[in-house]
Amino acid sequence: MKKHKITLSFLEFDSIDELDDDDRTLLLRAKEAAKNAYAPYSKFRVGAALRLANGLIVIGNNQENAVYPVGLCAERVALFSAQAQYPDQPIVALAVTAIGSDGKVTQPVPPCGSCRQAMVEAESRHNTPLRVIMQGEEGPVIIAEKMDDMMPLTFAEDFLKKYTVI
Ligand code: THU
Repeated sequence: MKKHKITLSFLEFDSIDELDDDDRTLLLRAKEAAKNAYAPYSKFRVGAALRLANGLIVIGNNQENAVYPVGLCAERVALFSAQAQYPDQPIVALAVTAIGSDGKVTQPVPPCGSCRQAMVEAESRHNTPLRVIMQGEEGPVIIAEKMDDMMPLTFAEDFLKKYTVI
């Protein structure tokens, strides 16, 4: 038996003011997007904004449904919209934030596991590291510089390529 340890890292900033212009702009766009979320059931409005390699920014927000599982997270709304419109553009960064309904969100908002899996696919599709910027309504900002730091031991395209004829 062997026990393995995985080391991952992320950056932490005390506030949005410490970010460089690109990251701050992206996070501000995510905050704007959160205001337009459709979240009548959870009342947790999530906003996402991603930057393409050509500099364009695409936004998303959570879209809920009376049939709860039909709803989609902000990150995947942004990701799928970007991939639908700009299939050849790598996604280089994605910011995520949220507005609560019972007090301010003061800690970074982490993407759910399904969104992480979709983000891994975007990374492997274009072979470009995806930077993930996370904040609440205020407070610290954390940044993961690649998806391996968000989700190690990933199931991705290369795995299928090795064992199937795709
Ligand atoms: N949500 C997102 O939009 N992104 C996440 O990564 C976490 C959760 C949404 C889904 C649902 O509409 C609400 O937040 C509560 O889970």
